[in-house]
Amino acid sequence: MRTVTVSTPGKLMLFGEHAVVYDRPCLVTAVDQRMRVTIELTEEKVLMLDAPDVHVSGFVKPMDALGTGETPKGAQFVEVAIKNFLTKHPFSGGLKVSTASDFSSLFGFGSSSASTACVVKALAELSGKKMSQKQLFDISYKTVLDIQGKGSGFDVAAAIYGGTLYFVTGGKIIEPLKVKDMPLVIGYTGVKADTVTLMREVGEKMKAHPERVNRIYDAIAKLVEDAKGKMAEGDWERVGKLMDFNQEYLRDLGVSSEKLEALISTAKSAGAWGAKLSGAGGGDCMIALHPDGASGKRRIEDAITKVGGQVIHPDLIGAQGARVEA
Ligand code: MEV
Repeated sequence: MRTVTVSTPGKLMLFGEHAVVYDRPCLVTAVDQRMRVTIELTEEKVLMLDAPDVHVSGFVKPMDALGTGETPKGAQFVEVAIKNFLTKHPFSGGLKVSTASDFSSLFGFGSSSASTACVVKALAELSGKKMSQKQLFDISYKTVLDIQGKGSGFDVAAAIYGGTLYFVTGGKIIEPLKVKDMPLVIGYTGVKADTVTLMREVGEKMKAHPERVNRIYDAIAKLVEDAKGKMAEGDWERVGKLMDFNQEYLRDLGVSSEKLEALISTAKSAGAWGAKLSGAGGGDCMIALHPDGASGKRRIEDAITKVGGQVIHPDLIGAQGARVEA
């Protein structure tokens, strides 16, 4: 029986969260902590799934029942990704799927979108389909929308394309950027963000005060354009300033939290050029840009640890996108 393993990187939002759900651009980078999914073609027409990172073990469902009935939360993205792939590109038989991740699903590195992208890429390989990155993106993004109802797709794009991307809602633009040696520090709050709830709350604010929220989103979109240029120049001091401005708008939107603010202000006091939350807010990670090479980095990391944050060290920022491992 044929087997394939595909890996995809995790992601970190650099600029533009929330605004990107409403037709604005964002900047996202892929981090080299990877999700791996192995899929084996089997004869019996059932899906068998083990995903220990999200506490799913020995899940079995007939292939013709995918997308119906009960599914544990951790299995939903894999199941619906398979269903969406097979609707477009049917083949017979069953699938044995297992997932393994370098990173905790709690960090907000995008484990659901990373596993979705792995599944779609692995099925393309197994069925011998030559599919472009955009085609892989479209099936994976549909999967995220089917389950979450809302979302920009930036995380799926990071998982498939890798690198650092300028991205507009739904993949209207997915532009790889040339960015070198980003002096990034990542601090995890220890709190899992509830992205869907935060998007809903922000959506309610948009309904109640559309002018005010659209003004904030327009300002964030302008920051994203500035940051795109300054990142290409490697002007990290200016990019840091823009992070601070972006954070002010996110505070205005009401998505920051005490813990995020504590990590951000300690990073700033320790000399960071700028710092902000990364992702939906409410928890997950914050990011900062450090001056002074390794010593500046250590100073900020120590400060984050002292106030109870957990520093995360990916091997590489701007990591490679979806790739076949075996
Ligand atoms: C969540 O990590 C980022 C949001 O902008 C949602 C999305 O873009 O799908 C809040």
